[in-house]
Order: sequence, then C-alpha cells, then structure tokens
Amino acid sequence: MYARQSKGLWAILFVSSLTLLGCMKDVTKIRAPSAAKWCHGCHGIHGKGTALAAIPNLAGQKVSYLVRQLELFQQGKGIGTAARIQTDEVVRQNRSMKYHADKLGPDEIMATAEFYSSQPCNVRPVNVEPVPSNRCTKCHGDMGISASGGIPNLAGQNIEYLLAQIQKFKESSSGVEREQRRPYRRHPIMSNSVSNLSSGEIATLYAYARMACR
Ligand code: HEC
Ligand code: HEC
Repeated sequence: MYARQSKGLWAILFVSSLTLLGCMKDVTKIRAPSAAKWCHGCHGIHGKGTALAAIPNLAGQKVSYLVRQLELFQQGKGIGTAARIQTDEVVRQNRSMKYHADKLGPDEIMATAEFYSSQPCNVRPVNVEPVPSNRCTKCHGDMGISASGGIPNLAGQNIEYLLAQIQKFKESSSGVEREQRRPYRRHPIMSNSVSNLSSGEIATLYAYARMACR
C-alpha cells in the first residue's frame, strides 16, 4: 500500500518536474540582454509589468512593433515642440521612455525587443470567446492578436494602459488644438480614424485585456 502510494507520488513529482522544465525552457529560450536591467524596474523581469499603473505588458508582443516604438521614443520629436508635427507623422513622446530608450543602440533595441517578445505572458484566458467583429478586429484580431508585425497585440494588455493610449490618440487627432508642452502619441490611423470609440468598442478593449496574450 505504502509502496503503491509512494510510486504514485514519484510519478506526480516526475510529471510536475517535466512541466516545470518545459516552462523553464521557454523562459530561458532567449536570455535577458544586459540592457534589460534598465527596464525591469517598471516592466518587470519578464515584461509583464509591475504594480505601477499604466505600464504596458511587453511579454509576447510583436518584435517589430516593440522595435518601432523604441525608435519612436528615441526620436521623441523634441517634447515640447508638438505644434510643428505634421498630421501624417507617427510620433510617440514619453519622458521616461525617451530617457531609457536613448541608452539603447540598435543592437540593444533588437535584443530587448526579442527578449520581451519571447517571454511567456501567463495571462489565464478569462475570455475565450472571440469578440464580435467591429472596426478594431480587422487589425487587432477577434482574440486581440494582430496578423501584422506593425500592429500591436492587445490581448492580455493592461486595461488602464490601453485606455490611456486611446486618450492620447484622441488628443492628437486632426483638428484638436495641441498643447505645446504635453508629450503625446500620434499615428495617422489610430489618431484620425478610430480614436472616438463607441461603447461596444470600449467593451472590446476590456475583453482583449482579459484574453490570453498569445
Ligand atoms: C520609469 C519606468 C520605465 C522604465 C524604466 C522603462 N519603461 Fe518602457 N514604458 C514605461 C511607460 C510608462 C510606458 C508607456 C508610455 C506611454 O504611455 O506612451 C512604456 C512603454 C514602453 C514600450 C511601448 C509598449 C507598447 O505596447 O506600445 C516599450 C517597447 C518599452 N516601454 C520598452 C522599454 C525598455 C526596452 C526599457 C528598458 C531599456 C524600458 N521600457 C524602461 C515605463 C518605463
Ligand atoms: C487599420 C488598422 C487598425 C485599426 C482598424 C485599429 N487599429 Fe489600433 N493600432 C493600429 C496600429 C498600426 C497601432 C500602432 C500605432 C503606433 O505605432 O503608434 C495601433 C495601436 C493601438 C493601441 C495602442 C496599443 C499599445 O500597445 O500601445 C490601442 C489601444 C488600439 N490600437 C486600439 C484600437 C481600437 C480600440 C480599435 C477599434 C476602435 C483599433 N485600435 C483599430 C492599427 C489599427
């Protein structure tokens, strides 16, 4: 009886250690580049974010999207010179991110983007039902996973962060008088065509935030 039980216990231990090894293999597939030491404090060791509000999740995000955002932060277009920005330009200004992105060379941008993109996101899929199709799903997918490297996944993203970004796109839409000193984010599609969300589209954002990030 005792022997049978302990055999069962060993089997369980063996299976769980295999599962653990499987997870560990994923986590360590790409080692954190040394530049990631500048990012951990806000984005967390695996890019999942920290308790700080409005910090985006980077884990599982598209590599080319992450690279592009870091380049945009670096360019920063001189925070405080917003009035000179053309309406068809893509701009992203954020003081903390400009400061940290400026420390990265092109290789470090690629290395940090690849590292965070490879990280597991561990979001338990609370919403497994695809959202009904609307103007967001054609680019961001009905499960919050986009089909293109230039379009971010929204699944598993921090909802406060998502809402804050929509507000930023709204503030930079054509015809809105810009406050000179306020850092902002502008993208022709997101700012001009889709920053005024219907209540259904806001519900889509909440649903995306509860979906598995890949
Ligand atoms: C002081 C906190 C802080 C640190 C340190 C920091 N970040 Fe950020 N990061 C932020 C915040 C806040 C945002 C959201 C900015 C906004 O609202 O536009 C952000 C946004 C980003 C984004 C855009 C994500 C998206 O979904 O669009 C990327 C990529 C990023 N950070 C990468 C990094 C990397 C790489 C490092 C380290 C070199 C780093 N960050 C260090 C706070 C930080
Ligand atoms: C035609 C394609 C397209 C459509 C339609 C679209 N988006 Fe986007 N979305 C983008 C692109 C491209 C970006 C990245 C913008 C950038 O680089 O600054 C983006 C970025 C975002 C972001 C910021 C994500 C982040 O990680 O920072 C949010 C939030 C968002 N979209 C929500 C929506 C919502 C909600 C809708 C529907 C009302 C929508 N989008 C429709 C292409 C699209």
